[in-house]
Formats: sequence, structure tokens, C-alpha cells
Amino acid sequence: MENILTVRNLSKSFKENKVLKSIDFEVNQGEILCFLGPNGAGKSTTINILTAALQSDGGEVLYKGEKIGGRLHGYKKQLGVVPQDIALYEELSAERNVRFFTSLYGLHGKELDAAVDKALEFAELADKRHDKVKTFSGGMKRRLNIACAIAHSPDIVIMDEPTVGIDPQSRNHILDSIKRLRENGMTILYTTHYMEEVEAISTRIIIMDHGSIIAEGTNESLKEEFQNEKRYFIEVEDTMSLNANDFYSVEGVKNAAIKDKQIQIISLKGIENLDRIIALLSDKDIKIRNISSETASLETVFLKLTGRKLRD
Ligand SMILES: Nc1ncnc2c1ncn2[C@@H]1O[C@H](COP(=O)(O)OP(=O)(O)O)[C@@H](O)[C@H]1O
Ligand SMILES: [Mg+2]
Repeated sequence: MENILTVRNLSKSFKENKVLKSIDFEVNQGEILCFLGPNGAGKSTTINILTAALQSDGGEVLYKGEKIGGRLHGYKKQLGVVPQDIALYEELSAERNVRFFTSLYGLHGKELDAAVDKALEFAELADKRHDKVKTFSGGMKRRLNIACAIAHSPDIVIMDEPTVGIDPQSRNHILDSIKRLRENGMTILYTTHYMEEVEAISTRIIIMDHGSIIAEGTNESLKEEFQNEKRYFIEVEDTMSLNANDFYSVEGVKNAAIKDKQIQIISLKGIENLDRIIALLSDKDIKIRNISSETASLETVFLKLTGRKLRD
């Protein structure tokens, strides 16, 4: 995998407040790298330093092996930036906005026309191209902001919490479009505090908290690493002849509880024991109505790492 960005020892303070505590990470060509962390973790600060909107106190950023400082202009041309706060001209039409931002990257003439058309199509706003932005919903503005960021076909698209406060339909549209950008060869950096989004789109995840990277991996590897239990919920017809202690004879069972007609079992992951649990029930002639298991979530990973929930 080709490395496209390298970040070393990045630190940033606002007065005495250490917001980034010397973080290191790499971005690989073609990935959807998600920064997951609660409000105040330092996601936007990291992103803003990567886009050169903000200066770090220490550390360095390398684009394809070279420090960005020396060739800032060329580097910035390879970025598409969707900031946390929507940046659009409300009084201008959708098309005028895309045209303006894209022309800043040096596109003009027919090349500019084609790029603007393509980006508006991509954001599914082609039919609204002549409407003023001030008439748009929050979700449409977000989509238009993305169109403005990608029309010049950047290498890297950086999006900072682009789905906050928008309707579910626009949210899904944005998540789908991010996958399409990747299919078109772009590398995506995406910040969010919604773990569901990370689970839906990420190819790799960096979890941040209090200005540090506290975990890094894929959706699967993080869950594997930090979640060593699974939960079963078994609905039965009758629990009269059953005692929670019965289940402790099954290998791997750490905890068992009976609540009304539901048996809740916490078991060590990696030990296949559901067949023995079922056998135990059928030995007692207990009819099973339903079995479900809880899959590990990134929320449990975060909880394990910090003792707190992702969303306060
Ligand atoms: N311009 C600024 N001046 C002072 N403090 C700031 C500034 N920008 C961010 N911070 C502080 O830095 C911390 C991290 O903020 P931020 O990077 O925006 O986090 P996130 O994007 O993860 O919510 C917060 O405590 C925030 O209050
Ligand atoms: Mg932020």
C-alpha cells in the first residue's frame, strides 16, 4: 500500500491547553481513514493542520514523502476540503458556488464546465443548479459543499463531520458518495463522533481522545482486540425448571442471568459453546423461541479504552 501522507509528532496547544499531544499516523493511498472521537478530542485541529489552515507547534506533515511546507501550493491543489462549518455563498446559485471554488484550483473554460457538471451530478443537485443556496436544506448544502470540494478531482478528500445535523436521507447519500469517491481513486479522511458511520464506510480507523491517538486498526481488528466477550439472548417458553447456575458448567460462560423468559449469557469469545447451551435447554425440555447475539460495537471498544461513552 502506497503511503500518501505521513504525520509525525504533531502537537498543538491553545494557550495552556494541549490539544494535540504529539500524534503520529500515516494515510495510505485509496483508504477511507476515519477519525473517531468525542467532541474536543482534537479531530478538527488535526484536520486543520493537514489542510494547512492551522499551523502546528511541532511535528511535520509529509505528502508523498516530502514536507508540505516547501511546496504548499502544489499540495493544496491535491486536497478537497469539506470543513466542519459549511462554507458556501448563500446568495449565489449552486452552480456559481461550485464554479467559484473549482476555479480557485486553476480550472477554466471547457474543463471547468465539465468538472462543475460532473460534481453537481455527483451530489445529485444538477436539477437545482440555478437555485440560490439560501433556499437549500442543511443536507443539500452539505452535498453542495462536497461538490465544491471534489470538482477539481483531488487526490485526498478531507471531510470534517459532514453529516452533523442533517436528515437521514442526505446522510446516507453522503456516506454512499464517499464510497464512490474511493472507487474513483480518491483517498478519504473523515472525522466523526458517530460510530455507526465509521462502521459503515471506514477501511481503517483512528480513535482519538484528549489529543492523543488511543487505538488504530480496522473495524474488525479493533473489535477483535478490545472485545473478548460475546452476549447471547435466548428467549424460552418457560424458565421454571431453570437455574442461572446451570450454565456455568458450559465452557466459556462467564455470566448467566434469567430475566422473565429471557436468558442472558456472557461468554468468552473464541469458544464455540452455543450448541452446548442449546443442548442444556433441550435436556430440560425447554422450548427455545428465539436466540440472538450482540455483536461488538466500536462503542464498547471506546468504553473499554476510556471508561466513558463516545457520546456524552
Ligand atoms: N481556535 C481555538 N482556540 C482555543 N481552543 C481551541 C481552538 N480550536 C479548538 N480548541 C480546543 O481544542 C480542543 C480540541 O478541539 P477540536 O480539534 O475542535 O476537537 P474535535 O474536532 O475533536 O471536536 C477543544 O478543547 C477545543 O476547545
Ligand atoms: Mg471538530
